[in-house]
Amino acid sequence: MTTTEGNVRKSESWNSRLGVILAVAGSAVGLGNFLRFPGQAAEYGGGAFMVAYFISLALIGIPICWAEWTMGRYGGQYGFNSSPGIFRLILKHPAGKYLGVLGVVIPVTIYMYYVYIEAWCLGYAVNFLQGGLNFGESVTIDNYINYFNTFIGAAEDGSALGFDINQVGIYIVLVFFLNFFLIYRGIAKGIEFFCTYAMPTLLLLGIIVLIRVLTLGAPNPELPEQSIINGLGHMWNPGNLFEKLKNPQLWIAAAGQIFFSLSVGFGVIITYSSYLSEKDDVVLSGLTATSANEFCEVGLGGMITIPAAFVFLGAAGIAGQGTFGLGFKVLPMVFSQMPAGALFGFIFFFLLFLAAVTSSLSMLQPGIAFLEEGLGINRKQSVAILGLITAMGSMFVVYFSKDMKALDTIDFWVGTFLIYLLATIQIIMFGWVIGIKKGWEEAHKGAEMRIPNIFKVIIKYISPVFLLTILIAFILEKIVGINFETGEFSATGYVADLIGGENHEKSPVALMSVGVIGAVIVFVMILINTAGKRWDKLDEEGKRP
Ligand code: ALA
Repeated sequence: MTTTEGNVRKSESWNSRLGVILAVAGSAVGLGNFLRFPGQAAEYGGGAFMVAYFISLALIGIPICWAEWTMGRYGGQYGFNSSPGIFRLILKHPAGKYLGVLGVVIPVTIYMYYVYIEAWCLGYAVNFLQGGLNFGESVTIDNYINYFNTFIGAAEDGSALGFDINQVGIYIVLVFFLNFFLIYRGIAKGIEFFCTYAMPTLLLLGIIVLIRVLTLGAPNPELPEQSIINGLGHMWNPGNLFEKLKNPQLWIAAAGQIFFSLSVGFGVIITYSSYLSEKDDVVLSGLTATSANEFCEVGLGGMITIPAAFVFLGAAGIAGQGTFGLGFKVLPMVFSQMPAGALFGFIFFFLLFLAAVTSSLSMLQPGIAFLEEGLGINRKQSVAILGLITAMGSMFVVYFSKDMKALDTIDFWVGTFLIYLLATIQIIMFGWVIGIKKGWEEAHKGAEMRIPNIFKVIIKYISPVFLLTILIAFILEKIVGINFETGEFSATGYVADLIGGENHEKSPVALMSVGVIGAVIVFVMILINTAGKRWDKLDEEGKRP
């Protein structure tokens, strides 16, 4: 447990090296791997997306991951576990702490909608077992679309709040309690304990479902071309590669997926690694957690969902299903058509649920760490405050469930845009403020492998340029509304939701969602101001290590 001695918080720590790797991998492996990734890969045409995806992994994913691990461990040596504290330390400037605001706002705000989807997964697992998703002989995709819409309350605001077993309300309460129970138990007894069991379990469950899917062959004798082999080809064949790679949207999507999936630019890894000691390795650990994530994302998430959907629906059926369409509409239908489908459906959604819990826990810890070290309060108080804030935020998302407007709006502004921004700040901090020479020395303290020297150039020049280019392309296309193909300008959905556009009315829910994000930012800023005074005082009294 955390103790207070001479006003300086004695930090908690991880129990074992494997524990921290499983926890970081747990943070990374989540809904992004099993829902977002297959949806994106299918939308952007398989192989070409994979090329952009792996380039993004090498040029920004792994470098920023190492940077976060290193900066976090460094901050931890001085008693800081949150981004505002660590940024203040690194930037050595009173304003530095304010730059860390995103490292608290991003995880806390993403948690507000992530837990809603987590509850869908639990609900689907339960309903596969108890038969709620069994439509007997009359299986059509419409059954599953209707079920999903009713389950999450997509038709009407407020309609998700019932406590029916076929509705999300009851599950959201359960997952909220589970998350806060575990986070209250702390780093080692809560997060590490849960991840140590959940990660191997989800891996095993994932492999079981993967084997089932890869042995499906071509289940419909009348459509022999709808086979698993062709489904895999749909995921991997590059098609008209160079033409596709010219599309900036593909790169924006691939880079965004890397961040979301690795939990890089979330403010999560920096907090997790701050509980390490100086002699703990970060280089190999970071790479191991990243590799585990990639195995689950590409090897399980992608290779289960895309081929499975392909053999039952063909290429046309997969296209345009989006993040949730494949996972919550197409796959349940696919499972219901296989022998022992209820069991496989349960296994799949239960593994999704485990993956989601290990990620949502990681989204709470940065907020907890910040409240504890910024306000000098204990875990009970910080859990209560964060519980209240996130409960209000989640209630907002769950209530405004019509067309998933609140979820979608917050996911765009925070789960995509702000993540790019924080990742850009982090890589510039590591490569330019700390500097490659010092950063390299810091990263290699206790390291069990050397980072290849080529990464010095990548981290200093290539990653920031690549990121800034993507960030600018994203702002121009998604926010300013320039169509790169035609050069025309028109406000895109997310912006038109806020300011109105041609044939597009303003959306009050989108406006309120942005208001919620703004309120969280202002609230955290005020707390950072208070925290800053406390930290200055501790520094003056020489009470920091
Ligand atoms: N990295 C987490 C995921 O993929 C947030 O879902």
